[in-house]
Amino acid sequence: MAFKVGLLGLGTVGLGTVEILGDPAQRHPLVQELVIHKVGVRSLDKPRDPRIPKEILTTDLESIVTDPDIDIVIEVMGGLEPARSLMLKAIQHKKHVVTANKAAIAKFGDEIFTAATEAGVHVLLEAAVGGGIPVIAPIKQSLCSNRIRTVTGIINGTTNYILTRMQLEGGDFAEILADAQKLGYAEADPTADVDGLDAADKIAILASLAFGGRIKLPEVYCEGIRHVSAIEIGYAEKLGFVIKLLAIAKRKASEEELEVRVHPTLVPKAHPLASVNDVYNAILIEGDPVGQVMFFGRGAGAGPTASAVVADVLNIAALLKTDLSELAGQPPILDPLIACAHQ
Ligand code: NDP
Ligand code: HSE
Repeated sequence: MAFKVGLLGLGTVGLGTVEILGDPAQRHPLVQELVIHKVGVRSLDKPRDPRIPKEILTTDLESIVTDPDIDIVIEVMGGLEPARSLMLKAIQHKKHVVTANKAAIAKFGDEIFTAATEAGVHVLLEAAVGGGIPVIAPIKQSLCSNRIRTVTGIINGTTNYILTRMQLEGGDFAEILADAQKLGYAEADPTADVDGLDAADKIAILASLAFGGRIKLPEVYCEGIRHVSAIEIGYAEKLGFVIKLLAIAKRKASEEELEVRVHPTLVPKAHPLASVNDVYNAILIEGDPVGQVMFFGRGAGAGPTASAVVADVLNIAALLKTDLSELAGQPPILDPLIACAHQ
């Protein structure tokens, strides 16, 4: 049984995905059953990886999400539109969707997951937060027995890379940001990274999962790293702190309300998040009765992000091979924003 995959986007993450699927060392048996059927891009004139046959490239992305042969659509094009409309159309056409697009999920998650429930398809998004770090599925599945109290994370690789290099080398902000772009860490518009908006999207998703309900973006206080200077980093260091862009979601004293915020923070050097450097991300979760749990890994870049994308695709393929009649009438079991266990 082969599963046909439509790929929307062939940039950093799209290419990373193609690389994993074409890697002869890839041992997961279901990889052999995945066939990239069509790839949607903006321009057909760009030089492309020779592993992508020209005939499967198209600029008509709608033809991918409506193609009756395609089972799973991978959305790694980014942005709000047309990504939202294409995901909705794919869902309408009964395709399962895997996305790395935190901006679209943070803003349109309700609409997308409601449509998916109605259509009886899965929408998975492990790559949308923390790059290669498994965090969405663990919150939803492995920590569902807990009452979560706080989620605190370094969840933007670009800003952590910039702050780390400013701290260790005292380098120039603009030059380091340009390096982060070359390494494929930054968003197409790096303002989203630098001004904390990308971290705000991600903490809104994590908080929705961890605490139940939907955190809307205007509820997230957001301040980026644009104004953090080398002098401030130096003073912090002398006082025993590092400056990190933290994303924090926690229950207020009343327990019923949440505070959700993103801002540069003085972190004591002995704190577990203080030594998370470079493009690495970490998410520290405190819950009852588990206590503290920390997830750590590379938070951006082609390989780590594609690792999460392909894992989601394989999970869907594995489910498609099971007897779905047993699940009839139930909500899609893996879709974290629907079947959230922390309500
Ligand atoms: P890139 O900018 O590298 O690639 C985007 C791809 O999508 C390109 O192939 C581009 O086509 C195509 N594309 C974009 N807009 C359109 C459009 N309107 N019509 C047709 N094709 C379009 O992005 P990334 O791979 O870095 O990121 C993709 C997604 O993954 C984003 O949502 C991002 O937030 C998310 N993500 C990225 C991570 C990273 O480390 N880079 C990590 C985690 C998530 P063309 O090639 O012709 O320009
Ligand atoms: N631009 C994002 C970051 C990509 O730097 O963290 C990963 O989501």
